[in-house]
Amino acid sequence: MTGEERRKEVLLKRDGRRVRRNDPCPCGSGLKYKKCCMSADSGQGKSIEERYLKEHRIRLKGKGDVEGIRKAGNLAVELLLLVEKHIRPGVITDEINTLIHEFTVKNGAIPAPLNYRGFPKSVCVSINEEICHGIPGNRVIHEGDIVNVDVTPILNGYYADASKTFFAGEPGPDALKIVTVARECLKRGMTMARPGNRIGDIGWAIQTYAESQGCSVVREFVGHGVGFDFHEPPQVPHYGQKGKGVVLVPGMVFTIEPMINLGKKDLHILADNWTAVTDDHSLSAQFEQTVLITEEGLESLTPFDL
Ligand code: MF3
Ligand code: CO
Ligand code: CO
Repeated sequence: MTGEERRKEVLLKRDGRRVRRNDPCPCGSGLKYKKCCMSADSGQGKSIEERYLKEHRIRLKGKGDVEGIRKAGNLAVELLLLVEKHIRPGVITDEINTLIHEFTVKNGAIPAPLNYRGFPKSVCVSINEEICHGIPGNRVIHEGDIVNVDVTPILNGYYADASKTFFAGEPGPDALKIVTVARECLKRGMTMARPGNRIGDIGWAIQTYAESQGCSVVREFVGHGVGFDFHEPPQVPHYGQKGKGVVLVPGMVFTIEPMINLGKKDLHILADNWTAVTDDHSLSAQFEQTVLITEEGLESLTPFDL
């Protein structure tokens, strides 16, 4: 027990009587207080915003914040549509960077990746066995490649994060499979995102489906809170157990962004210190959206068809 928890315990009273963690719960359930009403009592008098900030370092978003993130999200969707129109065999990844950079700036926004922890470009472009964080450069896109483009515009201070994996030309059967599975993983993760469910439910749904298809889930990179900053608490793993983790509540904004490998889950980072690639060089695909937990369920703030 921390000093703070001890202090709380001493202060905690019910019907004017001090209740200790191992006492029977005053509500009459027959359970120990700590297994019953203790956590609810210690949260008494605090708003959900205060509790999530204090207990989980999660900053819930208000109406105005959501509007801001939604605008940034709409720009992210436009950026992905723009890329979709331009992507084809023969394109050089740096051309995608120029396209993203210019369209972002033209719309009064800032590309969050540029100079983020030393990342040198405005977008991540990851091809085939590259899992994520590919740096645009002189690599040429070839017929049959799968190309993930991950964009994060900052508009009026608000961040939205989204990515899609595109086909260049006609996909072969492996490319078709991994992209189809990764897309379905994001869909299934998103259906679990609603108030009352837990973070672990999302990862469980994704992992169960990916593995049922003989694919694997990357562990080293996870979804994340987003909106006020690029990466905020909570972490959103794409694997895990049902019923585990933080309870989802309205006002939470986070990404779901499963990276799914056709072969094994293991990866290494290239000498550029950014590009993550599969150890077995199998194909990897990813789809990402920024989602808001609402009273009713979920709203994508980067809505594109899956
Ligand atoms: N957009 C990535 C994510 O989904 C993060 C990229 S960090 C960068 O979290 F520096 F590589 F841009
Ligand atoms: Co992200
Ligand atoms: Co992203």
